[in-house]
Amino acid sequence: ADALKIGIAGLGTVGASLVRIIQQKSNELAVTCGRPIIITAVSARDKTRDRGVDLSAVTWFDRPEELAEKGDIDVFVELIGGAEGAANVSVRTALQRGLHVVTANKALLAYHGVELATIAEEKGSLLNFEAAVAGGIPVIKALRESLTGNAVSRIYGIMNGTCNYILTKMEKEGLSFTECLKEAQRLGYAEADPAFDIEGNDTAHKLAILTTLAFGNRIAADDIYLEGITNISIEDIHAAAELGYRIKLLGVAQRTDTGIEQRVHPTMVPVDSVIAQVDGVTNAVAIESDVLGELLMVGPGAGGNATASSVLGDIADIAKSQPGAQRVPVLGHPAKALEPYRKAQ
Ligand code: HSE
Repeated sequence: ADALKIGIAGLGTVGASLVRIIQQKSNELAVTCGRPIIITAVSARDKTRDRGVDLSAVTWFDRPEELAEKGDIDVFVELIGGAEGAANVSVRTALQRGLHVVTANKALLAYHGVELATIAEEKGSLLNFEAAVAGGIPVIKALRESLTGNAVSRIYGIMNGTCNYILTKMEKEGLSFTECLKEAQRLGYAEADPAFDIEGNDTAHKLAILTTLAFGNRIAADDIYLEGITNISIEDIHAAAELGYRIKLLGVAQRTDTGIEQRVHPTMVPVDSVIAQVDGVTNAVAIESDVLGELLMVGPGAGGNATASSVLGDIADIAKSQPGAQRVPVLGHPAKALEPYRKAQ
């Protein structure tokens, strides 16, 4: 079969991991996907940086928008980040052109997801974003596909690796907040602007996406009670421990009689609960639904390989899909059928 040609916009931590994995596993991928996956084009700000991968055979574009518009590609992979600007314009351009899109961009989806899903569905394109929430944990697939017949009542969890890494390191190694954050940045976990991590916005973006998949409402990223971890001190962590709790930054969404409740804040969780044992960059997402009961997924939540693993899974899904076949609705429910968001009173 014809090779699937992909174009990658953004060659930071995740982009470089993705290129490396696709090149290293090209033979296996060709077999499992039924066709080769080849990187034909990329765009990145810095052309000269050594990323430890061979990109001599690909076409370089200076701007993501150009790659989306002119690249000889079937799939546009957006790893730039940010709700506005180049990511927003290039994803739109790619979808309008009828390309499939894979993105890890939670901020983009939290603010423009419904509109982008509408375009994708009109064009019959796939818009996959497994990596946007909880890194390597297949929570989008779980909600969008596996749990289709379930009514979800609650979804909650640890969705920011940087914050969980900081809270864990402060407690277990006695390091300061600032030192832990620096280390998370060095390891490639943090956002370009780490305020998004520590102030809870990143968790809120992810929660807003999950809420829509779980409850079928239009995305409401600004309607989330938000409190980050910047005020958590080592004393707070020790005081919680003495009472038998650990402090975790949780995102919680639930259906109530009056509407949907969404909140992000540091939470005391009993030390013997599973979620309290989730350490470091690991994330955890719990989904409570009527048929299945409680599903808990735990796994790597940030970093090059965790994120690239989900991006690659999304690319493989596209490689395996039959042209013209019925698509899974991008947000779990057809974009046009999403209900207005009704906030719990
Ligand atoms: N900065 C994010 C985190 C990256 O720490 O979880 C993964 O979305």
